Amino acid sequence: MPEKKLRKKEKYDKRNALNDLSGREWLLLTKSIWISEKNGDDKFAFQHPAPFLINDIRKLIRFFTKENMVVLDPFCGSGTTLVASARENRKGIGIDLNKKYCQMSRKRLQDLKLKKNQQVIYGDSLKKTSEIKGKIDYCVTSPPYHNILRHNGGGLRDAKNKNVRNGSRLGVEYYSNDKRDLGNQAQYKDFLRLLKEVMVEVYKKLREKKYCSIIISDFTVNKKETNASGDVIRLMQDIGFVFEGAVVLVQDNKPLYPFGYPYAYKMNHHHQYILNFKKS
Ligand SMILES: C[S@@+](CC[C@H](N)C(=O)[O-])C[C@H]1O[C@@H](n2cnc3c(N)ncnc32)[C@H](O)[C@@H]1O
Repeated sequence: MPEKKLRKKEKYDKRNALNDLSGREWLLLTKSIWISEKNGDDKFAFQHPAPFLINDIRKLIRFFTKENMVVLDPFCGSGTTLVASARENRKGIGIDLNKKYCQMSRKRLQDLKLKKNQQVIYGDSLKKTSEIKGKIDYCVTSPPYHNILRHNGGGLRDAKNKNVRNGSRLGVEYYSNDKRDLGNQAQYKDFLRLLKEVMVEVYKKLREKKYCSIIISDFTVNKKETNASGDVIRLMQDIGFVFEGAVVLVQDNKPLYPFGYPYAYKMNHHHQYILNFKKS
């Protein structure tokens, strides 16, 4: 049945200023676990070391915005947020410090004929966010995970492998050598400080009562398991954001690595957290 016909049967509440969802659609997206969903258009992005999957971001955009609203991703990488934003008829702004990734985003949008209303900005999001004209309605993003790509095992996956996401890593690729790159901070505390500075700019641009989602997992810092998601929640609260909860984004298809075997327990991270915040 075409989507429009299905939608006609749904109940829409005129008081809903947040999104264009019916009560049923709204409810389904409030689950605290989501299974990450692949889509054919994701493949192009695997030239980037850590892309989102389009459908995961479409769901977030559908929940946190209405049609024609403005979505920002200050660490936009391969442009997945812009693809998702275009598919949901939202206006997208993506910023990335790496010129190659900006070109990748533009080509991706062009190939998919989704360029309309999507803007790719090359530069440091600390500076470029404050230069955005007007306000934004939603921010969804995922920063570099400190410097983990510089560890063994980081980098691009094997694109020749049929099941691309399960492919072994091709070798190490960092985002850039720029010292403003969050992935290039030797100290974890400097990574957190820089992330906070960028999110302060996002806070200023975000309209009142609107939301921001940060997608991140916990990871190891100097080989020690670190509660990065907790640290990000605290830094966002310091800025003034209200924490609205963490959704577990299950990534059950990832390969398993015997990190501690046969001596000690070392976990395989098979989920991300979608940390949701509100400016109120
Ligand atoms: C985890 S990746 C984002 C991937 C993206 N979600 C996607 O779907 O492709 C983080 C990105 O942040 C960028 N980055 C790091 N520091 C930055 C900064 N100061 N300003 C803008 N972009 C930055 C990196 O180049 C990298 O592409």
